[in-house]
Amino acid sequence: MTFLQHQQSWALLPAYLMKSTVFTVPVLATVARSAANDFSTAAWSRRRPLLALGAQAQTPFPVQIRGKKMRTTVKLQDLPQGPLGAPLEPLDDGDHEPAYPTVVMQARRNMQKFDGCVVLTRVGGFYELYFEHADEYGPLLNLKVAQKKTNGGPVSMAGFPFFQLDRFLKILVQDLHRHVAISEEFPNDASGKVKSGGLMHDRRVARIVTPGTLIDEKFMDPYANNYVMAIHLPPRREQETEHDAVGSAPDAVPVPDAEAVRRPTADTSSEIGLAWLDVSTGHFFTQPTSLSSLGSVLSRVSPREVVLDKQFESQQDRATLSLLEEEGYIVTYSPQGELETLSDWEPMLESEVPPEAADQFTENEVRAGSILLNYVKDRLRGLSMKLQPPLRYDGLEVMKIDRNTMRSLEIKKTVKDGIFKGSLLHAIRRTVTSGGARLLHQWLSAPSTSLEVIHARQDLVSCFLRDQDLCEGITTLLRRSHDSYRLVQKFALNRGDPDDLLGLASTIRATEDIVGHLRDCLDSQDPSSRDSLAALLGRISLDEPLKLAKRIRKSIDEEGLDQRHQLEDSETGEMIALAQEVVKAEGTEADSALLPKGATAKSTKRPPKTPSLRDHYGHDTEAWIMKPDASAALSRLHADVAALRVDKDLLTDTLRTRLEASSLTLRWSPSLGHICHVKGKDARRDPATHTLSSSRTTRSFHDPSWTALGERLDSTRHRIRTEEQKVFAALRALVLRSLVKLRRNASVLDALDIATSFARLAREHTLVRPVLHDTPGSLSTIIKGGRHPTVEPNLPGRPFQRNDCLVGAPGHGRAWLITGPNMAGKSTFLRQNALIAILAQVGCYVPADHASLAVIDAVHTRVGSADDLSRHQSTFLVEMLETAAILRGATPRSLVVMDEVGRGTTPGDGEAVAFAALWHLVHVNRCRVLFATHFHGIADLVAAHGMRVEDGGEVDMYCTDVEEDGEGGFVYVHKLRRGVNRNSHALKVARLAGLPGQAIEIARRVLEGRTEGAPGDGDGAAGEA
Ligand SMILES: Nc1ncnc2c1ncn2[C@@H]1O[C@H](COP(=O)(O)OP(=O)(O)OP(=O)(O)O)[C@@H](O)[C@H]1O
Ligand SMILES: [Mg+2]
Repeated sequence: MTFLQHQQSWALLPAYLMKSTVFTVPVLATVARSAANDFSTAAWSRRRPLLALGAQAQTPFPVQIRGKKMRTTVKLQDLPQGPLGAPLEPLDDGDHEPAYPTVVMQARRNMQKFDGCVVLTRVGGFYELYFEHADEYGPLLNLKVAQKKTNGGPVSMAGFPFFQLDRFLKILVQDLHRHVAISEEFPNDASGKVKSGGLMHDRRVARIVTPGTLIDEKFMDPYANNYVMAIHLPPRREQETEHDAVGSAPDAVPVPDAEAVRRPTADTSSEIGLAWLDVSTGHFFTQPTSLSSLGSVLSRVSPREVVLDKQFESQQDRATLSLLEEEGYIVTYSPQGELETLSDWEPMLESEVPPEAADQFTENEVRAGSILLNYVKDRLRGLSMKLQPPLRYDGLEVMKIDRNTMRSLEIKKTVKDGIFKGSLLHAIRRTVTSGGARLLHQWLSAPSTSLEVIHARQDLVSCFLRDQDLCEGITTLLRRSHDSYRLVQKFALNRGDPDDLLGLASTIRATEDIVGHLRDCLDSQDPSSRDSLAALLGRISLDEPLKLAKRIRKSIDEEGLDQRHQLEDSETGEMIALAQEVVKAEGTEADSALLPKGATAKSTKRPPKTPSLRDHYGHDTEAWIMKPDASAALSRLHADVAALRVDKDLLTDTLRTRLEASSLTLRWSPSLGHICHVKGKDARRDPATHTLSSSRTTRSFHDPSWTALGERLDSTRHRIRTEEQKVFAALRALVLRSLVKLRRNASVLDALDIATSFARLAREHTLVRPVLHDTPGSLSTIIKGGRHPTVEPNLPGRPFQRNDCLVGAPGHGRAWLITGPNMAGKSTFLRQNALIAILAQVGCYVPADHASLAVIDAVHTRVGSADDLSRHQSTFLVEMLETAAILRGATPRSLVVMDEVGRGTTPGDGEAVAFAALWHLVHVNRCRVLFATHFHGIADLVAAHGMRVEDGGEVDMYCTDVEEDGEGGFVYVHKLRRGVNRNSHALKVARLAGLPGQAIEIARRVLEGRTEGAPGDGDGAAGEA
């Protein structure tokens, strides 16, 4: 048995391979080649490790000496398992010889330099962790931790095959929120080799992967942007702003003369600068904000990582930090860095910030942008970035949806479980592309307030709703497109592979077909749909992208690429099979469980004829990535290879004749090089040549003419791969040249995806087109026959009761006070109207018979109650803080939804505060209000203060009801009617919920004012509620 069979285990493979790379161990030559060779699977793979291409770009052709035999035997006892060694001494950087092997030294230095990061070091076909990182993360990653014996003492190490990088990054970055520094191999040139004492590779940290700086990792959510956001917060002002937001919330509002109340101004201070970007798509935004609005911006943007100026690390500013902690944001501190002004940003942008836009950035936004770009630049270790010029969010006309509203209306996730299913986004998402899904996420987080924008979106939907064939046709074409934003960004970041190029090409073709389809039907559209379609088509540029697509198709050999992927799969299979064999021989069942899924199947069921990488490099099974006519040089080189193959056939014939060996074949093996191979009786015949290796039935030997021819073949193949790289680089340059156009086209496809999906949704759920207007004197929300978009589809076997909402309509009052029994639909009604308003401004059709809506600038809700003990806030304080924020922020164009304000305290106090809030909203904020309550006294207070519509006020009373059949049965009437319902029928709900009969009986007696006696002592324990 070989050393490998005996002594390697899955966990020990890295230990062995570390040596193999340093000393070139022949047995695993395929793995070493894979890591080192430019045209290896590692370089072109779909599973290509991070930055492999970037690394190549710097030193394109590492030299791999094939078959060089420098065997170094590693004994099992050199790799002891067991308890951890003593803590490591700091590295001795003095003049002494390093105690650890160079690779370990390199890793150690990186661990010190990139303090705070988990360091993964690429060694051959593996990524490895050393020292404390192996001890700490090995077990978390389910990797065995080995102890490598070195001159400096035992070193803990753990590793995994390079193609599993994504899987382990997911655990480290996404699940454990760690920053991971990836140290890649960079082939050493001649002088580098001398300096490093003969090492083939230098190792440098090529990227630090963090939750907010993902590029193309497979575990990224394709349907949401992956933003990293920097917050610039001037240090001293922060405490004041916090006080402003929390401390000065009104304690109680007496009912004064309305005219005497000063109109409160919304918190307009813009002390905080925000900047956020998505590395994977190139989107980049900035916005000034205030501490009190920060939570809402955060919930709108949902950044995966928040970066704060390093100086705040020591200050531990309470308000911001607790806000970030409360919402579970991952916070990183980073220095301001050398980028300071807008013009410093330009090298990282696809084009400069237009001068007229540049003037509008506030100092705080620029500061935040600088922190952000410095941070991202550092994490990407100098990778070029072609971000879109930053867009100021402040300049965009969007509806504000504050944090509580986002949460309580369950716009992106449910309140109870925090999951996507059950949210509004889940209910309306029918998009077929990831880009479309991301754009919908953005639109829903910030619906438009521009009538022009909303109408344009609606026109598109109506066009696709009218023409179902067109809608289906465009949807089918959209399904053919790929995620161009992310593809293009990969190329901008010096990554991307031939598969990505093909993806881009097919997207461009799909775009061309979409444009053709839409142009053909333009004339049959009504004028407004035609204008919207034409405007959209006007944003598409096809000339340059089509040339690019043609070049890609002309250059890339799809069949070759397929073969290449099969080879990669077989390589993966080989590595897993190797581990499987070792574990079978030496490991336990637990070890087997640690192997990647499918390992057993792959290793045992793999057909024996699958070409191995060794076969691939040694024989004529080239899987070329580029077609021969991709360039003149490639054509020549392919012709050369063809001619050399003919020579090889001729030589085979010549040798067979000369040596009288009809079984002779010309081969290559990693350990023997170019060999002639004979078998059967030819092998048994007396050798006329020196035998290199033999078995009972075969014999191999050298022949100088085959050696010379084989080397020429090799070198020509090598030149083909060099040329393929050049062609690839040229294609990548072309992609970058079309960057702006490709991104703009992608944005059009995203919008089309949403429009067609909205049309399908409208058809599916009989939605109607809402009429939106912005008439100053008519701030009304008129919804006839409204339904709840997420409650209705989930009602078990009973119809949803449609309800009208006419707030602000003539004769109906701007504020609706809604009373009624528990469970009779008050909250549902409140929410459905807010959701309909939001959907309408997103451009979506709405669940109603008719909707005529004045544009809303913000939706505010106060719903439910919750303690926030970690922030020392009781239920009632939380309630009051939220109410205060609404009373201070709502404008006459806002819609306010208040569900049971004042519930968290005594009925008397609660009723007083609730009435005060309603009074303030009606008289001071003068906004549209939907106000549900169980405090019936509020209705009396409204009447007493002359606020009823009948009395010339602005409050209209509506209620829901319960219908009883007189025999104990009842049904909830979810239909709203005018009036006040003072009966909550709470005991019915209590009974439905299964409260014990005794408890219900007590409650009933209390309600009836009978406190004498106890249930069970005479007159029956469980009465009817
Ligand atoms: N219009 C409707 N048509 C049909 N079913 C409805 C309707 N409105 C609400 N429901 C059903 O009634 C349930 C309770 O509604 P909702 O929570 O709105 O009542 P509520 O009046 O707010 O009660 P509570 O006073 O206890 O808060 C909903 O979950 C839904 O299943
Ligand atoms: Mg309710």
